Amino acid sequence: MDFENFCKYFTDLILCRLINTSYLSIHKTWEEEVMRGSWSRHDDPLKNRSGGCINHKATFLQNPQVELNRTYRMHAIQKTVGSSIYINSRSVFLRKDLKEGRYVIIPTTFDPSLQGDFLLRIFTDVPAAFKELTLDEPIHTCWTGCCGYPKLVTQVHVHRADGLKAQDSDGSSDPYVIISCEGEKVRSAVHKNTQSPDFDVKAVFYRKKPKEPIRIQIYNHNLLKDSFMGQAVLNGDLSDLQQLHTVHLRDKGNRQNSDLSGLVSGLVWRRLMSRRKHKQHSHGHSTAGPHFQERDVVIHGFIDSQRYEDPSCFCLSQRNERWCDFCPVKERRLKRETLEFCALRGLGFDLVRMYKRRDYVELYEKDQAKWALLRNVNTVVKHTTLLPGDYVWLDLKTGREFEVPVGAVVKLCDSGQIQVLDDEGNEHWISPQNATNIKPMHPTSIHGVEDMIRLGDLNEAGILRNLLIRYREHLIYTYTGSILVAVNPYQLLPIYTADQIRLYTNKKIGEMPPHIFAIADNCYFNMQRNNKDQCCIISGESGAGKTESTKLILQFLAAISGQHSWIEQQVLEANPILEAFGNAKTIRNDNSSRFGKYIDIHFNKRGAIEGAKIEQYLLEKSRVCRQARDERNYHIFYCMLKGMTPDQKKKLGLGKATDYTYLTIGDCTVCDGRDDQKEYSNIRSAMKVLMFTDKENWEISKLLAAILHMGNLNYEARTYDNLDACEVVRCSDLTTAAVLLEVDLKDLMNCLTSRTIITRGETVSTPLSIEQALDVRDAFVKGIYGRLFVWIVEKINAAIYKPPSMELKAVRRSIGLLDIFGFENFTVNR
Ligand SMILES: Nc1ncnc2c1ncn2[C@@H]1O[C@H](COP(=O)(O)OP(=O)(O)OP(=O)(O)O)[C@@H](O)[C@H]1O
Ligand SMILES: [Mg+2]
Repeated sequence: MDFENFCKYFTDLILCRLINTSYLSIHKTWEEEVMRGSWSRHDDPLKNRSGGCINHKATFLQNPQVELNRTYRMHAIQKTVGSSIYINSRSVFLRKDLKEGRYVIIPTTFDPSLQGDFLLRIFTDVPAAFKELTLDEPIHTCWTGCCGYPKLVTQVHVHRADGLKAQDSDGSSDPYVIISCEGEKVRSAVHKNTQSPDFDVKAVFYRKKPKEPIRIQIYNHNLLKDSFMGQAVLNGDLSDLQQLHTVHLRDKGNRQNSDLSGLVSGLVWRRLMSRRKHKQHSHGHSTAGPHFQERDVVIHGFIDSQRYEDPSCFCLSQRNERWCDFCPVKERRLKRETLEFCALRGLGFDLVRMYKRRDYVELYEKDQAKWALLRNVNTVVKHTTLLPGDYVWLDLKTGREFEVPVGAVVKLCDSGQIQVLDDEGNEHWISPQNATNIKPMHPTSIHGVEDMIRLGDLNEAGILRNLLIRYREHLIYTYTGSILVAVNPYQLLPIYTADQIRLYTNKKIGEMPPHIFAIADNCYFNMQRNNKDQCCIISGESGAGKTESTKLILQFLAAISGQHSWIEQQVLEANPILEAFGNAKTIRNDNSSRFGKYIDIHFNKRGAIEGAKIEQYLLEKSRVCRQARDERNYHIFYCMLKGMTPDQKKKLGLGKATDYTYLTIGDCTVCDGRDDQKEYSNIRSAMKVLMFTDKENWEISKLLAAILHMGNLNYEARTYDNLDACEVVRCSDLTTAAVLLEVDLKDLMNCLTSRTIITRGETVSTPLSIEQALDVRDAFVKGIYGRLFVWIVEKINAAIYKPPSMELKAVRRSIGLLDIFGFENFTVNR
């Protein structure tokens, strides 16, 4: 093989020396065993295998643990037999002479809760029977049969306590927490000199008596005897649930009902134990079961070699509900049409997906043969065998635009026919001839995942179904790596409270369920930690919730960045003004942004907001003159007509919204659920906060009123010197517009009805036809509105933007938020 080819197929090369330790030994060489694993998060805390190291005790034991010759999981670290040194490379090496025995390897990382892949490669003189410990629940044995098997598993994560009473004479306390249940206890470290300790301690209890309460007791650490500070008692409940609690501390004993000073907050997660699941695992029938036998798996007869010519194929194996990295597969060419893949050794393959090496192109995207679902490992599976209760993808092939397969569950598989119920509740009977319309669903798509990177079926259908099933449970946020996907709930969910803000503060992405606050927190802390400016790009179709998300990020940043200041208030109040002048009701969104905005929020050295700068892009000016059916002009016009006093309206010669052509083209002057009158007073007060003077406000109103009057002008056709011309019919609208614009009436008339060109000092004036004059009028009005909008943004910036001095430039950091106008699909694009 030449070097170029070598580089194409291999990424690293390991050379191992043959060591002949003894002439009598049969082991003349090292046995190499490779295990690819990953630190990955799971909604089920017991299956969470995110990384950590000994310095982060809370997450350390969540690391995957790999045993050598062991049969049970080690829960506590007894003794370290050796640990490797991190050198300046991606790899870590350890060479250690170990006595014969059983050992556990824990791949660690300095990052608590890290996600990502790792690879363990060990060389031993005898086979090490190397495998990951994945037992999350106690095993059923005769012993548990006699003594009772746990009914409920509960994880209590105590985040923090607040407002604890000072215990020492100098006003300080050294609290720690004990979480206990059914005689088992977990104790936190002592937190020195604080009345608001961040305990961040987790305890898992396998409970035989679920009715027995869990106690969270806080003590003050003293030199002689620790003193009790208060407790919270969580009473038994038999349901699968994840719940947040903030509880007042109580006294104990007879005075259990009396409140003590302080609150404790945390997360409680419960899951009923299932015996059935365990039985399945032990027989190796479960699709996600970790207990497969270590034997060779042979899959054959489903690869068409015509289309799969690259012999260096690789397999992705799905193990414990996560995809392992690429594993080389030894393949043998049987006949021209078929390839046989064998020796997928000891990895518990239950679902195998074929990939082409290098460019990782999925070859069999639309092919039934792509999947081999191995129900019984060690047996040859040619085609998928379906059973009732299995989830599948159903390709209805109706030929509609944007159609993707839908998820469905198999109901019946009798007499060759398959009955399935799809996600939309429709039943279908599939005949064997149409069986190609069905593909098995990857286990990760069945109940959904928080991070779509983990989807086995990472295609359009997989993504849409994942979002759908989460949306049905009111889980509107989902990650795709570091990107957050938000689905508009069109209802106010109780997920934006002050408690939630606190919960998401200073947490790594993925530590908590996906949330817009997690993204904002990540931006803020990355900015602080790495001293680098950050940016959030919010994109999506019109009505998707971009502007609401921008506001939520702004609110979060304002809440966590320190005390509330005047400048912070000003930054927040810029939104209502911009929305009044730049948002309108469309058929997709009652508050649709018709311009793009980029807000750069500036933070000082301490991380407090000290200003912001707004940039606006591409205001849709045509809306001032024309709106589609059922759409409105910019909110400000309707708000002004509803909110001004009769006296002000009289001065501007204004009436009702229905009196103005520019406001009635869409045949819609009211917007359900919007109170224009109230909005007007909000806009006015926001303008006061942003230092708009009364005079400036009045000037703005005059321009807006002039625009409305201009829209009502009437034209009459004329002919001058055989040229098409027109005249504006003299009316009150024209005179009022001229007065409001502070221009001469005659000049205004001339401008609206003729075109003047200056060439080489000569001025040539030509009349305009009625169509041309209408276009000129509209262009004039759009020009006024566009410039007014730019002026308003400049005025807002004058209040909130403080140019940095030279010394401040180095320390000032910023977070930019880009809120674009949403994508729309028009029948006619004007
Ligand atoms: N997180 C949310 N919770 C509750 N309601 C929401 C949420 N996000 C959006 N909405 C609702 O959806 C409406 C439209 O959202 P928004 O104005 O943010 O859309 P947009 O993506 O900015 O659209 P456009 O591109 O047209 O400006 C909001 O007025 C609000 O009623
Ligand atoms: Mg918007």
